[in-house]
Amino acid sequence: MRLLLCLLLGISAPCAFASMRPKHLVYINEENWTNIMKGEWMIEFHAPWCPACKDLQKAWNAFADWSQDLQISVGEVDVTVNPGLSGRFLVTALPTIYHVKDGVFRLYTGARDKHDFISFIEDKRWRVIDPIPDYKHPNSKQMAVVAVFFKLSMSVRDLHNHLVEEKGVPAWASYSMFAGVTLTLGCILGFLIVLVIDQVFPTGARKAALEQKKKDAAKKNGQANKESNESKKNTNNNKEHSKEDKKTK
Ligand SMILES: *[C@@H]1O[C@H](CO)[C@@H](O)[C@H](O)[C@H]1NC(C)=O
Repeated sequence: MRLLLCLLLGISAPCAFASMRPKHLVYINEENWTNIMKGEWMIEFHAPWCPACKDLQKAWNAFADWSQDLQISVGEVDVTVNPGLSGRFLVTALPTIYHVKDGVFRLYTGARDKHDFISFIEDKRWRVIDPIPDYKHPNSKQMAVVAVFFKLSMSVRDLHNHLVEEKGVPAWASYSMFAGVTLTLGCILGFLIVLVIDQVFPTGARKAALEQKKKDAAKKNGQANKESNESKKNTNNNKEHSKEDKKTK
């Protein structure tokens, strides 16, 4: 309707704005997500293909319009363009809503309605929810690793789609290529890990060889000592001999 009106009136600039995103909603991406560690936030994770997210969209946008009154920020994350964030926050269902206050994360599981969102903040109903434990905290090192794997798997999928849809590579060929690459990388990585472990904790043949070396070294030392002792003795003997020789002379 609005679009039609715009077309009829023939003004293009305001029309572009008419279809634009709500003013108070904050878009969060991989680069600037740490901004939510400060202050109070409500964050929705969504994807364009998810029907439940579409149902929520209107309520969420309306809730965002209330954000200034509530003195919070309302944000959203599109997981299809930010796969690292869906890994970091362990988003397994869509839509997922988090409440964040001063870096403490809580999962929102209440009704997805504007009034429920508002009273959740106004009545501080988030206080009865257990925070996300430290080991799953989105800003922890292990979650950064999970994020990397999510990003990696997403880029593999994108590459697969690119090969199949744009380069005309048959799907089975793409799958077998990735299987091959995965196996090869796995073998190389495994081999490297074994090498490193073997350097740190020698086992089996290498351990035996090392111990043999030690023994040999010990023996050599022993022999060397004996030899030097013997040679000393010899020289002593020689001296005595020469003394005797002198006496006899
Ligand atoms: C993150 O970056 C996007 C795109 O540049 C911007 O629209 C958004 O406001 C930023 N969000 C935060 C929390 O700074």
